[in-house]
Amino acid sequence: MNDYDALRARIRALTDGETDEVALMATLACEIHHSDERFDWTGFYRVVAPELLKIGPYQGGHGCLVIPFSRGVCGAAARTGEVQIVADVDAFPGHIACASSTRSEIVLPVFGKGGRLIGVLDIDSDRPDAFDAEDATRMAAILEEVFDGI
Ligand code: SME
Repeated sequence: MNDYDALRARIRALTDGETDEVALMATLACEIHHSDERFDWTGFYRVVAPELLKIGPYQGGHGCLVIPFSRGVCGAAARTGEVQIVADVDAFPGHIACASSTRSEIVLPVFGKGGRLIGVLDIDSDRPDAFDAEDATRMAAILEEVFDGI
């Protein structure tokens, strides 16, 4: 289980005073990815045009470069503005398989100043049913703290 208090403190120390979106995403992708053995791919997709996500900073194998809001788990998070927890990716209609080893995933919307949707944070696991409500709550709190004023 992740030590979310330690992760949050580390991220707070590293990102204090930083306002550059890419610098923040790169730092979070690295820190989150290495914080838990369940995480096999950790990264951001950024809103770059209406209804369109493009790959941002990530850790792990290569990710798909472009994801429309209409597709996949990332698209669902961007479209609804709600966290998506998928216990079994094979059971999710329209799941985009970037790595065939992925069994489960969590995708959180990332909001900036005034509730603007900046993008999504996607974490994939090679383990089935790897994510729970606590991951969603704790991760969302970290994202809010870092991107709220951006
Ligand atoms: N699985 C995601 C696509 C992104 S990659 O896994 C890195 C999805 O269905 O949205």
